[in-house]
Amino acid sequence: MEQTFSYPASMTKRERYEAFLADYRLLIADEDDRICLLANTSAALKEAFGFFWVGFYLVNDPTWLHLGPFQGPVACTRIKRGRGVCGTAWAEAQTIVVPDVDLFQGHIACSSASRSEIVVPMKASGGEVVGVLDIDSDQLAAFDEDDREGLEHIMQELMKELSH
Ligand code: SME
Repeated sequence: MEQTFSYPASMTKRERYEAFLADYRLLIADEDDRICLLANTSAALKEAFGFFWVGFYLVNDPTWLHLGPFQGPVACTRIKRGRGVCGTAWAEAQTIVVPDVDLFQGHIACSSASRSEIVVPMKASGGEVVGVLDIDSDQLAAFDEDDREGLEHIMQELMKELSH
């Protein structure tokens, strides 16, 4: 298997998400192991979008998220439900876009270089949150509606593959 996730710089973000989705479906087809899928999802997103940090926190018990596969600098390993951006996205079962992490009360700073962030829940078919995708940028206000839409779509594809 050889697959790259590098796209022309001239593409808009929307076009990049569309191209990514098509390639991503091929990448995850025929694999159902969670760690394999999450590891490659992190790598593909990092390659395609150049994010500073991209990875997963997984629901480990009713109270805690544990660090999962990721790409980027080392990160905090455990986050309590309702805490930080990740724990809040889990508790509220919805995507959270944070344009300036310094203005989000309770933000957990794993790296001082992180300036903005988006967290997208991984929802099982019944709506239960089993983890979150967390992406950090070293730029302010790096994430918008295109990212929310694109990343939620990617998480839907991933969860479909994991439910087989
Ligand atoms: N900033 C996150 C913690 C995880 S790191 O960004 C990788 C939060 O507030 O939940």
